[in-house]
Amino acid sequence: MATRSEPRLRVIWTDPVTGRRGYAVIDRMVNGLAGGGTRMRSGVTLDEVERLARTMSYKNGAFNLPGGGAKGGVDIDPHDPEARALLSRYVRAMTPLYRAGWGTAEDLGVTQELLNEVFAEHGLGLTVQAMLDRSGDAAAAGARVTRALAIKVEGIGLADCIGGYGVAEAAAACAQYKGWDLNGMRAVIQGFGSMGGSSARYLARLGSKIVGVADVNGTITNPDGLDVERLLASRSSFGEIDRAALGPNDRQGPRESWLDIDADMLVPAAVGDVLTGANADRVRARMVVEAANIPTTDEAQERLVERGVVVIPDYVANGGANAWWWWTLLGVIEADAAQSFQMVSQVMRDTVKGMLERADRQGISPRQAADELSMHNLDELAARLGEEASGASLEPVTT
Ligand SMILES: NC(=O)c1ccc[n+]([C@@H]2O[C@H](COP(=O)([O-])OP(=O)(O)OC[C@H]3O[C@@H](n4cnc5c(N)ncnc54)[C@H](O)[C@@H]3O)[C@@H](O)[C@H]2O)c1
Repeated sequence: MATRSEPRLRVIWTDPVTGRRGYAVIDRMVNGLAGGGTRMRSGVTLDEVERLARTMSYKNGAFNLPGGGAKGGVDIDPHDPEARALLSRYVRAMTPLYRAGWGTAEDLGVTQELLNEVFAEHGLGLTVQAMLDRSGDAAAAGARVTRALAIKVEGIGLADCIGGYGVAEAAAACAQYKGWDLNGMRAVIQGFGSMGGSSARYLARLGSKIVGVADVNGTITNPDGLDVERLLASRSSFGEIDRAALGPNDRQGPRESWLDIDADMLVPAAVGDVLTGANADRVRARMVVEAANIPTTDEAQERLVERGVVVIPDYVANGGANAWWWWTLLGVIEADAAQSFQMVSQVMRDTVKGMLERADRQGISPRQAADELSMHNLDELAARLGEEASGASLEPVTT
C-alpha cells in the first residue's frame, strides 16, 4: 500500500466488566465524516484495526465517496456468551466518536441486525447516523436507509448480499479485460458469511463453478461444483454451514486445505493475512479477488504479481457494500434492489477496467494503480470539501 501517514485518532478501550479490549481508529476525515465497519474477533489488535481503517480511506477514494476511513474492533469470539453485552458497552463508550462523524456498519463477526439493535438500545439512531445528520434531511435519508436494510433478496438481506454481488462483478470485469471466460471458471471461497456467501451465489449465477468453500469449521469441496443455494440455506447467523446439508459427493477437509484445491479463482472472504510469503506459492489460481479486507500480505502480493496472478485489491473488489451505503444515504439510489445491483455492477465494472488499464499502461500492479487512483480522488475530495465538517449538507458526488 502507498506511503503511510499517522491516523487521525487511535482509541484503546478497556471493558470495565471483563477487562477485554476494544479499539477504534479514525484514519482520516473528509468533510467531517469517516466510515468503516465494526468487527468482533478474538485476538483483534489495534494494528489490525488501524490497517483496516486505512483500507476504508482507500475504499472511499476508489469510489469517490465523500468521507474518510475508520474502523472498530472488539476482542472477543462472536460465539462467546458475553459478546453481545460487550459490544453494547463498547458502542456506548464510542458514542463521542459517532457524534464526531464516525458512521459504522456490520463487519466480520457482527451482523447489521445486531449492530442496529445495540445502537437503538443506546438511543444512537442508525449506525450511519453521523452521515444522516449531515444529509440535509436526516428523516428522509434515515427512512430510505431503513427501507433499504429491510429488503430481502431471495432470503438474504440486501445489505448482506450487495458486497458479494460486487465481488462477482469485479471478477467478471477482470475476466473480460483479460479475455478469460468466467463461465466454467472454478472458484474457491474462504469464508461463507455476508461476503463469502453472496460472492458464491453471484459467481455461480455468472457461470463459475464453486469447487470449494471454507468456513471457520473447515473446507467443503466438490470438483463438479457445490450446490451453493443449499449451503446458503443451511447457514447460521455466524456464516457457518450445517454439514447435514452436504450433498453425497461433497467432501470435507481441514480449514487450511482451501489453498490446495485446484481452482482458477481464489476469493478470500474471511479474515486478514491469509495469503502470506510462506504460502503464496501454493496458489494455483490465475486470479485472486479479495472479498475480505487485508487478506494478502505485502510479501504475498509481490510473489503473486511476479507469477502473473492478477490480484483485485480488497478495497476495490469488496467496495460495493460500502458504496451502496453511501449511495443510499445520499439518495443517489433509492431503496430498491434492482437499482442497487445495477449501480454496483456499472461502477464496479468501470472501476476495475480503469484500474487494470492504468496498471498495464504504467507497468505497475493493479494494487499500485488502484492506490494512485484512490488517493488522488480522496485528496481532491478533501481539498474541495475540507477535512472538517463545513456545516453544509452533503451533496451526491458523481461516481
Ligand atoms: N460485511 C460487509 O459488508 C463487508 C464489506 C466489505 C468487506 N468485508 C470484509 O469481508 C470479510 C468477511 O466479513 P463478513 O461480514 O462476511 O463476515 P461474517 O462474520 O459474515 O462471515 C465470516 C465467515 O468467515 C468464516 N471464517 C472465520 N474465520 C475463518 C477462518 N480462519 N478460516 C476460514 N473461514 C473463517 C466464518 O465461519 C464465516 O463463514 C472481512 O474481512 C470483512 O472486513 C465485509
